[in-house]
Amino acid sequence: MGIFDGRRIVLGVTGGIAAYKAVEVCRRLIDAGAHVSPILTKGAEKFIGRATFDALASEKVQTSLWEEEHPIPHTNLGQKADLILVCPATARLLSDYRTGRSADLLTATLLATRAPVIVCPAMHTEMWEQPSVQENIQELVKRGVEIVGPDQGRLAGGDDGAGRLSDPVSIVAAVEKVLNSGLNSKTQDFSGLQVLVSAGGTKEPICPVRYIGNRSSGKQGHAIALEAATRGASVVCVTTEPSRAPNHPNLQVVAVETADEMAKAVFSEAPKSDLVVMAAAVADFTPIIKSEKKIKKSEECLEIRLEPTVDILASLGSSHTGKQILVGFAAETNDLEKNAKKKLEAKGIDLIVANDVSAENTGFNYDTNAVTLFDLAGRKTEFPLADKRDIAQAILDAALKLKVNGHEEIGKK
Ligand code: PMT
Repeated sequence: MGIFDGRRIVLGVTGGIAAYKAVEVCRRLIDAGAHVSPILTKGAEKFIGRATFDALASEKVQTSLWEEEHPIPHTNLGQKADLILVCPATARLLSDYRTGRSADLLTATLLATRAPVIVCPAMHTEMWEQPSVQENIQELVKRGVEIVGPDQGRLAGGDDGAGRLSDPVSIVAAVEKVLNSGLNSKTQDFSGLQVLVSAGGTKEPICPVRYIGNRSSGKQGHAIALEAATRGASVVCVTTEPSRAPNHPNLQVVAVETADEMAKAVFSEAPKSDLVVMAAAVADFTPIIKSEKKIKKSEECLEIRLEPTVDILASLGSSHTGKQILVGFAAETNDLEKNAKKKLEAKGIDLIVANDVSAENTGFNYDTNAVTLFDLAGRKTEFPLADKRDIAQAILDAALKLKVNGHEEIGKK
């Protein structure tokens, strides 16, 4: 797993000779697991072809406020980003960013974000030393923008001096530092909250070799855990897929396999938690007898008797204090609303995320999901097909509203 797994980085490239080094930066971010959305300015396109970034990055290059698929590309990019990296940044970019001038897609995105921003200036020494450029830099630093470089060294045209773009390794190290600083989220609205998330599908052993499992990859639960951690929560993620779990300083991973192990881990962490999200696909039944030796092949039919597992969520719901918010999922293939509402009530929880796992690109193992939220005040909110991280954001927004306002207030809105 990469150190930037699940992180969304907008890579803005402006028009300077150092633009070619942004390719190396992009590759390193991708190798470390980041989702990279590249934006090229018109100037950048004079130095480097968009086909290079199209091939390397996670998404196709975007260049314009007007010609993209999304009707408002700058807010779409800015709101989703965990970090915006401008590499290289020209004197023009620094000036537009400082003065709040929305001159193109990149500057508009910089204005439409709450994510941290790293700017890597690169230009000739004379330009870099201009008082106007230095004033812009100082003002951006005051506003919390991280400036990386420039370095001393060889410049275009055979010159030597200050203004050379920092090397890609240092730039990626700066990205890591900012993303791990704990101040890296769009907002720290979960700061001070303890969040418990379950993820993945449990594996119920039949014998030392075989088990009864399900198709859950852990992606949705992990996305929720990472989203909560980046928003400042202290997160425990109980997962059957620990090797796929995201890295974040606010996130502790607890590895489990069976429903019984998951129940023990959840019951031990839940009393300390302000919010519990059960995204895991927990087996409803487990073999009564687990053979100690591998069951040998035979011509006879094999009978495996199953007994119900503990319903973790319902147990938490039965001693629900009201201070804690309990969120469950309902994975359904039919009668989504009816079944989800039934589970909301039966399990004694606050919010249920109804997941039609038979719909296209939805549910088990996909990177995308589509869900409908039902809460106790009778409110129904639909979230159409989107990246699992966006769905995670929507679920946490709804859970936080419940935590802050309670069900009555939510119902009125
Ligand atoms: O992991 P992915 O590949 O990303 O897929 C995501 C997902 C489809 C697994 C996820 O979005 C989802 O729907 N999770 C819930 C799966 C499930 O088990 O649903 P259920 O309707 O059977 O269970 C209802 C709720 O009770 C769930 O919150 C479940 O965690 C909980 N439960 C179920 C059984 C049990 N013994 N104890 C429980 O706590």
